[in-house]
Amino acid sequence: MRSLVFSAVQPTGVLHLGNYLGALKQFAQLQSLHDCLFCIADLHAMTAPYDKNRLADETRMVAAAFLACGLDPKRHLIFCQSAVGAHAELAWILNCSARMGWLERMTQFKEKAGKSRERASVGLYAYPVLMAADILAYRATHVPVGEDQRQHLELARDIARKFNADFANGESFFPLPRACVMGSAARVMSLKDASRKMSKSDLSPMSRIELTDGDEAIARKIQRATTDPAPLPDNEAALKNRPEARNLIGLLAALSSEETEATLSRIGGGGFSDLKAELIARLQSEIAPLRRAIAERLAHPEQLDALLKDGAERARAKARPILEETKEAVGLLLPR
Ligand code: AMP
Ligand code: TRP
Repeated sequence: MRSLVFSAVQPTGVLHLGNYLGALKQFAQLQSLHDCLFCIADLHAMTAPYDKNRLADETRMVAAAFLACGLDPKRHLIFCQSAVGAHAELAWILNCSARMGWLERMTQFKEKAGKSRERASVGLYAYPVLMAADILAYRATHVPVGEDQRQHLELARDIARKFNADFANGESFFPLPRACVMGSAARVMSLKDASRKMSKSDLSPMSRIELTDGDEAIARKIQRATTDPAPLPDNEAALKNRPEARNLIGLLAALSSEETEATLSRIGGGGFSDLKAELIARLQSEIAPLRRAIAERLAHPEQLDALLKDGAERARAKARPILEETKEAVGLLLPR
């Protein structure tokens, strides 16, 4: 079967190095081999407190970043989740297949809801079901994501499996989507606290490299990144209890398109200062063109809007027949 790739990014703040290495860079590689759908998950962005006056611009920011990373909107689809009604409609149908017990286990919900679970939105709870709907609305088979989304992908498979069992005699009405989690940068950690992932929602901008950072900001953030006092090891096993070293070496390996072992054998025995110097140079040369391309795209919001409109029309045409078939499968009376 031919692979169909789907992924999405939430428009919640400036994209960072984790988003780029964990997701966007993979998207750009996959698009030369597969048909792809690249979605901006604005409905997901509403599940936590957000600023309604910024949502549209942050949506354009993700579209600009997609284009800056080289995603091709002619050969593939770039569109906004809320513009394709099938996502939310299918999510409702899948809410009726998903089980409370499955959602209860989602670690991201637990983390995001924190202590005030009772006050979390129903949207935050149902978030992984909407995510399953995003993917299954196109019968997509491969989903490039960072490590943090793996559990949600497992849930999407459980939902698809249950739907197939209940409504399709166990046949593959929905293919079971696979997570594609790749390489040494599938979980990029905070530069300030290597026990936490790099995140848009971290209060300290020093914890992350943003795709709009200038050369100086990149240098400053890496120079101040937390380290430990020991020299760098020359093998992966020795990174076990050294989260800061592992993070920075993982970044350097990803940016040099090397295996971690190869990077370690090159720089092992040295100190963090050499590692940081090389990392700064690599980051500056990788991010500068992205930063410029993002700024150029954002200077023409009307072009971004037109591109998203075209993407949404094409996405609607793909999702519509699958949604109809789904409605039929669950026994809903279709208007004829
Ligand atoms: P989000 O910003 O949460 O919408 O994430 C968009 C994509 O970036 C998803 O595929 C995430 O798994 C990925 N991602 C987010 N943070 C990180 C990180 N710190 N390391 C690697 N991938 C990440
Ligand atoms: N929840 C994902 C994230 O925060 C974004 C997302 C929404 C997604 N729908 C998706 C990712 C479908 C992959 C497939 O990173």
